[in-house]
Amino acid sequence: MRKILLPLILFYLFGSVSVLAQKVYKFGVVGTNKATFIKSLIKRMTLEEKVGQLNLVLSGGDPATTAQKEAAVIRASKGGAIFNVAGADLARKYQRIAVEETRLGIPLLFGFDCIHGMRTTFPIPLAESSSWDLKTIEQSTRVAAREASAFGVNWVYSPMIDICRDARWGRIAEGAGEDPYLGSMIAAARVKGFQGTDLSANNTVATCIKHYVAYGAAEAGRDYNTTDMSERTLREVYLPPFKAAVKAGALSVMSSFNSFNGVPSAANPFLLRQILKKELGMKGFVVSDYDAVRELISHGVAKDSIEAARIAIEGGLDMDMISNIYRDKLVGLVKQKKVSEKLIDEAVERILLVKYDLGLFHNPYLYCNANREKNDVMTSENLQAALEAARKSIVLLKNDDHILPLTKSGKVIAVIGEMANSKSDMNGCWATYSRSDDPTTILDGIRAAAPDCKVFYAKGCKVDAKEPEDYSEAMELASRSDVVIMTMGEYGWMSGEGMSRANLDIVGNQLDLFKHLQTLGKPIVVLLTNGRPLVIPYLAEHATAILETWFLGTKAGNAIADVLFGDYNPSGKLTVSFPYCVGQLPLYYSQLPTGRPHDEDPKDPYRSLYRDVTNDALYPFGYGLSYTSFEYSNFRVLNPVMTADKGIDVCVDLKNTGSREGEEVAQLYIRDLYASVSQPMKLLKRFSKVSLNPSETKTITFHLNRDDVKFYKEKVGWIAEPGKFNIFVGGNSRDLLKASFELR
Ligand code: NOJ
Repeated sequence: MRKILLPLILFYLFGSVSVLAQKVYKFGVVGTNKATFIKSLIKRMTLEEKVGQLNLVLSGGDPATTAQKEAAVIRASKGGAIFNVAGADLARKYQRIAVEETRLGIPLLFGFDCIHGMRTTFPIPLAESSSWDLKTIEQSTRVAAREASAFGVNWVYSPMIDICRDARWGRIAEGAGEDPYLGSMIAAARVKGFQGTDLSANNTVATCIKHYVAYGAAEAGRDYNTTDMSERTLREVYLPPFKAAVKAGALSVMSSFNSFNGVPSAANPFLLRQILKKELGMKGFVVSDYDAVRELISHGVAKDSIEAARIAIEGGLDMDMISNIYRDKLVGLVKQKKVSEKLIDEAVERILLVKYDLGLFHNPYLYCNANREKNDVMTSENLQAALEAARKSIVLLKNDDHILPLTKSGKVIAVIGEMANSKSDMNGCWATYSRSDDPTTILDGIRAAAPDCKVFYAKGCKVDAKEPEDYSEAMELASRSDVVIMTMGEYGWMSGEGMSRANLDIVGNQLDLFKHLQTLGKPIVVLLTNGRPLVIPYLAEHATAILETWFLGTKAGNAIADVLFGDYNPSGKLTVSFPYCVGQLPLYYSQLPTGRPHDEDPKDPYRSLYRDVTNDALYPFGYGLSYTSFEYSNFRVLNPVMTADKGIDVCVDLKNTGSREGEEVAQLYIRDLYASVSQPMKLLKRFSKVSLNPSETKTITFHLNRDDVKFYKEKVGWIAEPGKFNIFVGGNSRDLLKASFELR
């Protein structure tokens, strides 16, 4: 008893004091029972203090100098979390104000956008998803968590897990592509990587999965635009990654900017209360996106900020990101009995729970260790992880005459293109804490990997020039070379938030320069630098080889050189379909059938087809080549009858028929041939990444059960209907072996 009393007496006398090496903070003795501690803390809080916890403050810099305003807000107990503080010492200053200068000393959350690495920058998420390598992906977020936490961040606005099927939307770069199954696996892997197995360790951070929900389906690919969809599509396509991430333990969720069937996500009780909190069992809290509470007025669903605050809190939104509307309006709304204080308590409880799980009540300064900032960032281990992730993200789209890999000896290589000599662009979009001069350029990577080659460089043209340019230097160098390596695509900033484009052709003079180079008759290897599928049928036809290199982060140049010269055999597979033209969008492999299938009678125009372009993708989902070749054979369903309690096992033999070791992503799809609602013609259900030596064969086995064949039927729920299914296996979503089974 005395053990508890003594610190308590000292705490009431002196605020926070160190007693018997145990720090006692103003919020009281934490104890081991989380729920009891949080409930009793909430009881001690005034209404104003509770509302303060629901306010996310935007940092303006050092609280001692530039950010007096923010410091004052926190000092007044009007902020529960702060956004954009990165730096252990800076974080400590803010945390000290919260812990020592407020009545209850409740520690702050420090939120930051850590989308693909903190300082050590990993490939943009769309690129990394092309690895289909869950361990690598988990590892990259583990490294990001280590680095973010070393900079004082304990809450990341990541991972971005929006499914997207429309490359006009620039934010496709931030996600894992078009498929809900793969997207779910990746979402869970990223949550595990960030949060680790012990969230209260000093190098793990709370995730904020985003953007909930269906933001990637913005109409016409225009950012922030409305989303209108059936509940079935929501639940089958856009929700699964969120479900998987919540199951993996994600501790917070960011609502999306879009309205969903007319109701903005930030104030949508169906999405937030019914689905997220009730059905998915989300225990943590929901934060709005940037200023989104105020945007309820622009959406036309709130007449003023008072109403915006009311409908958001009633809708299930727990924390307001920077609009200050919760801070300024909720107290009044509760006092006037227009909002129940119970709603405020519920939101506070969710936020305090995350603070508790992060270990902040045991040590508010857990993440404020300036030594870690020096020792744990850009370590050789972190850089090695970035290199591996970058190599695995590259997709070989074309390789005529086996031009790749290039030999390292004695060649004359002309490297052309603005992106070949850019460091900062290699970081891609949302590289918030990356340094623009950290990455290795493509040119430097090539030079370092092939010291015996003569490597010449000319910019040739800018990425986005509006005027004609002088190609003479590029043409001259190319004419003296054995092979031309040309970068083409976007600047790093051209994809990401607010980067919607209605036209996805290669911009500027890049294609024109390519055509000039073609006249020299040299092999041309195109390195695509882009954050989204671009329209590249001309290149697909005329380039000798194409490597999709996206934006690969700090080790971009080294990874690309490793692939160019064969030190790494490419194994990436697209997670998003590449269209022939923008008019095909949205484009995805898992199309529903129509009443007039286009391939039944190609001569009949009254079919579901375009008159001017095929329905197919230029490069389909799952596609990617290797320097070796693979053969699938002997595909068999061992027990082709599935029942409620007995699944099926399917096997296929995969052989490396080439002369190099390589990795292949074997993909398993199904089609439910007949059901009460129309089913996709293919749906990814399993995959396996397998490494094979030349001539080696491995048998891959997949197991499926009844849960895998369920679909969502509106007003009924998830059901499986008996009947026949086709099942497919192969190296991409187009070229597949077929078998069948039956569900009884
Ligand atoms: C807006 C973006 O939509 C979101 O992804 C990001 O986390 C916030 N701004 C904060 O930067």
